[in-house]
Amino acid sequence: MSRGKFITIEGAEGVGKTTSIAFIEDYFKKAGYDIVLTREPGGTPMAESIRELLLDARQTSMADDTELLLMFAARAQHLREKIVPALQADRWVVCDRFTDATYAYQGGGRGIDKDRIAILEDWVQGELRPDMTLVLDLPVAEGLKRAGQRSAPDRFEQEKQQFFERVRAVYLERARATPQRYRIIDASGTINEVQSRIKTVLDELTA
Ligand code: TMP
Repeated sequence: MSRGKFITIEGAEGVGKTTSIAFIEDYFKKAGYDIVLTREPGGTPMAESIRELLLDARQTSMADDTELLLMFAARAQHLREKIVPALQADRWVVCDRFTDATYAYQGGGRGIDKDRIAILEDWVQGELRPDMTLVLDLPVAEGLKRAGQRSAPDRFEQEKQQFFERVRAVYLERARATPQRYRIIDASGTINEVQSRIKTVLDELTA
C-alpha cells in the first residue's frame, strides 16, 4: 500500500530542535507539501494529557517502567488517531521525537534494557518505523548551556549532564548502526549553518 513519508526529528536538550522544526515546516510548505506536523509525547488531546503527567516536575516518584509505559500509551493513541490515518491518506508526517527518544531517554538515560523497549515498539507500532530520522547533535555541555537559558525545567530537564551523555550516546549509536534511515546533523555553529545542513537532507528526501 502506498503511504506518505514518516520523518522524525530527534536530539538531546538544547540542540535547537524547535528552530529546526520551524525551518523544516517552512521548507515543506514552500515545496507544496501538505504535511502533518506533530510531536511526542503528545499530538492528540489524550496523548497531550499523558505528556503533562510525564513532564510534570512534581511527579518525583514516577517509576521508570511507569514512564516507559506512559510513553508508549501516548504513542499508541497518537498512532491510531493521527499518524497512521495521515500516512494512509498519503500525507507526510513530521514528528518532533518518536521511539528513538524512548531508546535514548528511557533506555540510555534511565537504563531500561533495550530489548524490553523493542517488545513495546513491536507491540504498539507493528512494522511501522520512520522512513527518515534527523538526529540533531551537539556536545552535551553546549546543549545544556543553551537549554539553561530557558524557563523552569520539566521532569527531564532536571536531569544531570551524565544522563544526557547517555541519551546522546544512544542516539549516535542508533544512527550509526542504520545509516540508511538516520542523518546526524551537526547542530553547532550559526542557525544558517545548521539550516543548510538540514536543507541538504530535505532536498535528498524530496528529490
Ligand atoms: P520535548 O521537550 O522535546 O518536547 O520532549 C519532551 C521530553 O520528553 C524530552 O525531555 C524527551 C522526553 N521523551 C522521552 O523521555 N521519551 C520519549 O519517548 C519521548 C518521545 C520524549
